Amino acid sequence: MNEYLSFYEKYKISPVVQNIDDFTAHRKRRTNLYRMIGVPSILFKDKNILEIGPGGGYNTLVTYTYNPKTYTLIEPNSTGFNELKDNLKDLNKGNIYFHNCMLEDFKTERKYDVIMCEGLIPGLNNKKEFIQNIQKLLNENGIIIITSADEISVFYELIRKYMANVLSQNIENINERVAILVKAFSSHLDTLDGMSRSYSDWCLDNLVGESLLEHTFSMFDAITLFEDDFYFLGSSPDIFTNYTWYKEMATQSVNYNSPYKEQFLKKWHTLIDYRYIDNGRDSSQNLELSKLCKTFINAIKKEETNSVVNILTAIKTNLQLDVNDEILKSIEEVIDIVNSGITVDKVYKMKYFNKAFGRGQSYLSFSKVEQI
Ligand SMILES: C[S@@+](CC[C@H](N)C(=O)[O-])C[C@H]1O[C@@H](n2cnc3c(N)ncnc32)[C@H](O)[C@@H]1O
Repeated sequence: MNEYLSFYEKYKISPVVQNIDDFTAHRKRRTNLYRMIGVPSILFKDKNILEIGPGGGYNTLVTYTYNPKTYTLIEPNSTGFNELKDNLKDLNKGNIYFHNCMLEDFKTERKYDVIMCEGLIPGLNNKKEFIQNIQKLLNENGIIIITSADEISVFYELIRKYMANVLSQNIENINERVAILVKAFSSHLDTLDGMSRSYSDWCLDNLVGESLLEHTFSMFDAITLFEDDFYFLGSSPDIFTNYTWYKEMATQSVNYNSPYKEQFLKKWHTLIDYRYIDNGRDSSQNLELSKLCKTFINAIKKEETNSVVNILTAIKTNLQLDVNDEILKSIEEVIDIVNSGITVDKVYKMKYFNKAFGRGQSYLSFSKVEQI
């Protein structure tokens, strides 16, 4: 059992429903995402696909239109599993296989050509073993798609989680908690054009659940865990450039992947705000930023609220010379509100931080080193 499952099963929820009323737009978004990470939809055609943790299957509905040979789904949460079966029942051409279990309990002799595991690994506390389990299920020359999310990319969400804890600390009833949080944060979510989830699902998943506090899995960590046998294929956001002449390109996956890791460390701070891009800064500053954001997570976990202002101030100082004013004003506004006392009304009326969202989760693809 992990943070997702204990939370979802306790309340019999699957708060990952997406609004797909405009299915064409949803399909285009997902297809563009996969193209961007180097996995165009034709790569799914006639292949054996495995999706781990699809929730209610809102993304599966698109991937299935790419005409795979077989599609296997592993979803342990009973509410999500029932929703998944229901969502796919009219489409199933007899080649979709449902498994209501955790990946850890999934037993098969089969191997898969493309394996997707989205929105799951960052919230786990057994990331390395979980990834090894996924790798064992992959066919020769296969592709794995995962997501990462780390203390910098979810830093703003961590701030909201901290505020949410303060606002709802004495409220036992989960529906009442969510109602208060929606009231406080709706003016923030209103600023997001591409929002496809309901506000209550978003608050439940991010602000009431505890899995966000495990999100310390960066693209760097992901590449490191894959690099012995896999080539980094692509990512969204695509923050990388590779000018290497192919005849000089490293043929060992570890060396092939290392320039991506170096670039990541220089650009890591750009994940803090989705409105911000930058060519890079000294890696040591980003390593310090990561440390500060991890300290912030510990302060939330241990409810050490008196250190929060100090950590936020140190984070602002770290970013001061490199990021734009909007980011600094957003952090200042948070410091003010923490100092003066957090209330629903003050959170709702925030002028800068309401528009501040991090890049959250990144998508990454890896191709297994070919057996030639
Ligand atoms: C945050 S949701 C992401 C849903 C969907 N993939 C998406 O990106 O919208 C994580 C999903 O992983 C499932 N899950 C949690 N632990 C799992 C495990 N050990 N094996 C397989 N799935 C798991 C949860 O039940 C949940 O449906």
